[in-house]
Amino acid sequence: MSTVTNIKKTVSGEMELFEKKFRSSLKSSAPLLDKITHYIIKRKGKQVRPLFVFLTAKLTGKVTDSTYNAAALIELLHTATLVHDDVVDDAYERRGFFSLNALWKNKIAVLVGDYLLSRGLLLSIDRGEFDLLRLVSNAVKEMSEGELRQIEKTRKLNITEEVYFEIIRQKTATLIAACCASGGASNGSDQKTIDKLYKMGELTGIAFQIKDDLFDYGAGSKIGKPTGIDIKEKKMTLPLIYALNNANQSTRKKLIYIIKNKNNDNKKVSEVIDYVNSSGGIEYAAQKMNAYADEAKEILMEFPENEARQSLFNLIDYTIKRVK
Ligand code: IPE
Ligand code: IPE
Ligand code: MG
Ligand code: MG
Repeated sequence: MSTVTNIKKTVSGEMELFEKKFRSSLKSSAPLLDKITHYIIKRKGKQVRPLFVFLTAKLTGKVTDSTYNAAALIELLHTATLVHDDVVDDAYERRGFFSLNALWKNKIAVLVGDYLLSRGLLLSIDRGEFDLLRLVSNAVKEMSEGELRQIEKTRKLNITEEVYFEIIRQKTATLIAACCASGGASNGSDQKTIDKLYKMGELTGIAFQIKDDLFDYGAGSKIGKPTGIDIKEKKMTLPLIYALNNANQSTRKKLIYIIKNKNNDNKKVSEVIDYVNSSGGIEYAAQKMNAYADEAKEILMEFPENEARQSLFNLIDYTIKRVK
């Protein structure tokens, strides 16, 4: 199986330079910000988004300065949204450590998220990367809409599969699509190629979020962030939607009652999780995830073979087989 470490090896020089640029784009002379950005840098994530940027650039041509700008901008904005997402989700663990809101409270986390976002905007303006900025700003807009739509649905608990897919497309897939499109755009690829890369990224991003939602059902797994919190947050994801759609009316009523009114009762929440596990919802979601990843791989295979294509294939595979 491909590990992210192996995939990174194929762009190790690029990733090293990227990390340097990422670090310097976070520098601040304000003591509190400096402390917090150090904390962020020390606990870096898997960095799959910069990998998509570099590998799609290499798939279609050369890595350029614009490729580095895209990777840094996207990882900055991704980090900003995670900082805000943990406030929104009341989550106290991120990347195996305390989240910013757990350590410094919501007020500071909200401001740090804004700081990261503005550093990303400045980075692209300073370097005249306006096409990139448009593409990525659109992804961030979609992400906020997706998260808001999700909150709206958690209030009514009436989410359909169709709405679920629209939400995850907005909140997760558009940014991964932007990674792939900007990788292609960074070396002057034509619009048709960029569109194809966008689609490939979007399909991969949908699979990526289904995998993330599956993690939430994996009690005790060491993914570096809380599990079992989606139901507590009344977040209805694919395994649960499937389970509800296939339950008889009284079971369905009971499950909805728990999610609505007993979502802070650990024992009751476990009952729902157990039900979802026995309903075939996990297998169903996994099957959908695999189908999306396969579709992404099909698009990838239309590109001429080179080393980057193999690594991208492995990266798409990693998206659905990863253990964190
Ligand atoms: C987490 O993204 C947010 C989702 C879109 C599910 P990642 O799983 O890529 O987070 P890090 O950057 O590796 O921590
Ligand atoms: C993805 O959703 C969040 C963003 C796209 C910002 P989740 O809320 O499931 O992500 P995690 O599980 O907290 O990383
Ligand atoms: Mg979250
Ligand atoms: Mg999640």
